[in-house]
Amino acid sequence: MSIFLGIDIGTSGTKTLAINERGKILGEATSLYPSYHPKPLWSEQNPDDWWQATVKTVKAVVKTAKLKPADVKAIGLSGQMHGSVFLDKQNRVIRPALLWNDQRTAAECDELEKRAGGRAELIRMVANPALTGFTAPKILWLRNREPKNFAKTVRILLPKDDVRRRMTGEYATDVSDASGMLLLDVAKRDWSTELLSKLELDRDLFAKCYESEDVTGNLTREAAKELGLSTECVVVGGAGDCAAGAVGNGIVSRGTLSTSIGTSGIMFVHSDTVEVDPLGRLHTFCHAVRGKWHMMGVSLSGGGCFQWFRNQLCRPEIAAMKRTKVDPYQTLSAEAGKIQPGSEGLFFLPYLSGERTPHADPDARACFIGLTLAHTRGHMVRAIMEGVSYAMRDSLEIIQNLNVPVRQIRGSGGGSKNLLWRQIQADVFGQKVATINAEEGPAYGVALLAAVGAGAYKNVEEACAATIRVVKETPPNKAAKKYHDAAFPTYQNLYRCLKEEFKQIAALENR
Ligand code: XUL
Repeated sequence: MSIFLGIDIGTSGTKTLAINERGKILGEATSLYPSYHPKPLWSEQNPDDWWQATVKTVKAVVKTAKLKPADVKAIGLSGQMHGSVFLDKQNRVIRPALLWNDQRTAAECDELEKRAGGRAELIRMVANPALTGFTAPKILWLRNREPKNFAKTVRILLPKDDVRRRMTGEYATDVSDASGMLLLDVAKRDWSTELLSKLELDRDLFAKCYESEDVTGNLTREAAKELGLSTECVVVGGAGDCAAGAVGNGIVSRGTLSTSIGTSGIMFVHSDTVEVDPLGRLHTFCHAVRGKWHMMGVSLSGGGCFQWFRNQLCRPEIAAMKRTKVDPYQTLSAEAGKIQPGSEGLFFLPYLSGERTPHADPDARACFIGLTLAHTRGHMVRAIMEGVSYAMRDSLEIIQNLNVPVRQIRGSGGGSKNLLWRQIQADVFGQKVATINAEEGPAYGVALLAAVGAGAYKNVEEACAATIRVVKETPPNKAAKKYHDAAFPTYQNLYRCLKEEFKQIAALENR
């Protein structure tokens, strides 16, 4: 029997699943961990939590799927992108990792652009502008603000690659995740020696780059024992969660776009060549498909907005969950489902962690605008779902204006599993949203990459064709589409009107 594991080191938790050679899911498990926000707009996690969650979920999957250690031939790793794990000489984690939605590095982004010789030069070297969430500015932040910690640092790894190090003893990464460090020559699919030297960063700080399906090492004896697997088991390159989710959604050729609402909100398109948004609003990264690339727009707070609302405003319901067996997500969605499209004039700007696409503004803040006495909790939840969908329409419009064909939109993540939110997305995008048979996104995508790496399929395209098919299409509701087409320009204007005030708020706080 040949079994492949996909492990996704997400922001809210780690998900592990096992598939057989035909792509059938045999078992899955999730383990959650906290994020820490020591200051507004800071976001950190403890890398040890990722490893504990990995061990726990792998063991749980091995048990539920009744696997023998020798059954598991290969593992694929996916993870939240851009995070920074700083390691010392003894492989000890020096400080909590700074995450993708951390916004502390605005000054370092300026420094980076200056050292690179300007924004255009930076885009020429690494295909993307400097954004606060990316890894390179985090490294400069450590050097500038915590020089003692920087002096101790001998390796800098991405979240899933620290889990790989604990599994295989290797310092390795894959080209899709490495693209988000802002240090990769995305066209050449290897580190940009030119930018590294301009930033005075030693290449040895970074892992070796692999294609996503290539084998990066075997499990060490200790890791095999801890995970209940065999040292014969290999770990493939894997992918950042966006590219992994796209593989899991079958986005491996031009013309299909995926909309994925997890903690963030991602609009993702495949590309056969390196295509760059001249205004730098979309990211251009290597795809997890050998020799291919992708573009994507990232809304920093997608499902994270709904999670925040539930966690902060439904504490009694959360406390009662054990007794009621009802998650407040269900209650809130049912309340929102009773509200008309447009939430009776209530808008929500979803900038809880600042924003990337299209504004690249760490100071942007979330807000409800248009509240009246008539508005209820249901209105607020619907406005959140609509606001996140508008933010993603911003990305969709940029993609379409760059003449990238979008013949089919495929939905994945919590925002598409939720029927109301999927319908709202179709209404706001004005296009059908298709859903596929495999709903597991990144973990499923990297399990397929593991299967390719172990030789079960010729390549990623073949693996997707054999396992993924569209099972449902949600068409837009005509009246709702008409409403959202009329409301979208107002949504866009609200940010423009508030932009300077957001800066003012940030300045007040920093006094
Ligand atoms: C992508 C991004 C997020 C994280 C979190 O650029 O920052 O999607 O990967 O999952």
